[in-house]
Amino acid sequence: MHKLLVSLAVLSAVSAAGTTCKTGNVVNRLVSGRPYYFPATWNETMPAPELAKEQTCSWTVTIPQGYYARLIIDGTVRDKDSRFQIIDSVGNFIQTTHEEMDPYFFPPTKFTLAVSNEGVATFGFQIQWIAHNNTEMDFAFVGSLDHDLNVTSSVFCEGLGGAEGISLLAFPQNRKHPYSLRSTLVYEAAPNQQIGNFINNLYEMYLTKKQWISNVPSIVICNLEVSNNTDFLVVQSSVHTKNLNYVELVTVPGTKYNATVNSEKKLSALISASYYNQTMTDIQMDATSVISLYYGTPSGFTFDKNYTATEMKSALPMEYPGGAYTVQWVLNSGKAVFTFQA
Ligand SMILES: *[C@@H]1O[C@H](CO)[C@@H](O)[C@H](O)[C@H]1NC(C)=O
Ligand SMILES: *[C@@H]1O[C@H](CO)[C@@H](O)[C@H](O)[C@H]1NC(C)=O
Ligand SMILES: *[C@@H]1O[C@H](CO)[C@@H](O)[C@H](O)[C@H]1NC(C)=O
Ligand SMILES: *[C@@H]1O[C@H](CO)[C@@H](O)[C@H](O)[C@H]1NC(C)=O
Ligand SMILES: *[C@@H]1O[C@H](CO)[C@@H](O)[C@H](O)[C@H]1NC(C)=O
Ligand SMILES: *[C@@H]1O[C@H](CO)[C@@H](O)[C@H](O)[C@H]1NC(C)=O
Ligand SMILES: *[C@@H]1O[C@H](CO)[C@@H](O)[C@H](O)[C@H]1NC(C)=O
Repeated sequence: MHKLLVSLAVLSAVSAAGTTCKTGNVVNRLVSGRPYYFPATWNETMPAPELAKEQTCSWTVTIPQGYYARLIIDGTVRDKDSRFQIIDSVGNFIQTTHEEMDPYFFPPTKFTLAVSNEGVATFGFQIQWIAHNNTEMDFAFVGSLDHDLNVTSSVFCEGLGGAEGISLLAFPQNRKHPYSLRSTLVYEAAPNQQIGNFINNLYEMYLTKKQWISNVPSIVICNLEVSNNTDFLVVQSSVHTKNLNYVELVTVPGTKYNATVNSEKKLSALISASYYNQTMTDIQMDATSVISLYYGTPSGFTFDKNYTATEMKSALPMEYPGGAYTVQWVLNSGKAVFTFQA
């Protein structure tokens, strides 16, 4: 009787105040291969668990070779001094206040998760360690044509090599919340077309809003999980693109949409990678500027035609069929505003 009363009292204290935690936790892959949960009584089918006020906690999660870690967090902080933080093995620092179990992926050897809150919050997480020992992989040499991938539509690893390096530019379906790009990891290629050092994930590369260029000739891309988003990845040989500042054309079906390209300081190009047919309906550009149109990576191979402002205007409307390739408009000087309809 006494025992029961005590444990009931403890239980209600916990549920009223929320869970507590501490800094310096180390979490290793469980021998059972099962996921790790915080709090231990929570799982992803339940509502986000309450976290007691004024907690400062951290978990260093180790990841053995041959595995990756998959993290989901469910939680929300409710005041401006509270946050969730993640630091991965290459120093990416992620700070958020709200998580809805959109997964994060980490290669060996570790990542750190922390929470710091003032007021009561909700916070629970799950970590899975998943074997990743790809032995078979295709290797593609990327020359003067772009090599484009529906990058999160399947689980794969692929080696990619260029004359100098590889340029990557992602076109996520969900631009406001492109979390599905987190599952695509980019590595240096090791000899014998093996996976070498981890470089970064596509999500972090996309956040820079620039093409990413490798400083080694060959890389390996692995997508670890299938998403429902049609995330397109444009892979090019950086020898052809390194001088360009890219502006991505965001196709919005059923509307007119603009894209502005500015080549006043740096040679800039508008790039489209769309499955929708699009029509260019208008263009504003300097009378003395030239637009070079390419169906693919800007190179002699894919060059279509040069247009002055007058030539461009008289060619309108111009139709561009959608498909698994890019259309690129390189503006040699000044500024231009392109208007499209899809
Ligand atoms: C989550 O916990 C509930 C309650 O303990 C249990 O019934 C359910 O099977 C668990 N689900 C998973 C996916 O572990
Ligand atoms: C991959 O690693 C897992 C876990 O170590 C192992 O069970 C599995 O057999 C490995 N698969 C291959 C193809 O090597
Ligand atoms: C990529 O996804 C698009 C849109 O879902 C689809 O039309 C296309 O066939 C896919 N391409 C490949 C190579 O799977
Ligand atoms: C993807 O879409 C299918 C069908 O709509 C759905 O059953 C599945 O749960 C979705 N997967 C994810 C990860 O959202
Ligand atoms: C697009 O650009 C044109 C020309 O600069 C401008 O008149 C129009 O209002 C813009 N439309 C949108 C949707 O921004
Ligand atoms: C096209 O225009 C670019 C930029 O002005 C120029 O460098 C190139 O020589 C032109 N190409 C042709 C075939 O006229
Ligand atoms: C896109 O254009 C091509 C011809 O360029 C046409 O065959 C196709 O039906 C069009 N697709 C759509 C969805 O309108």
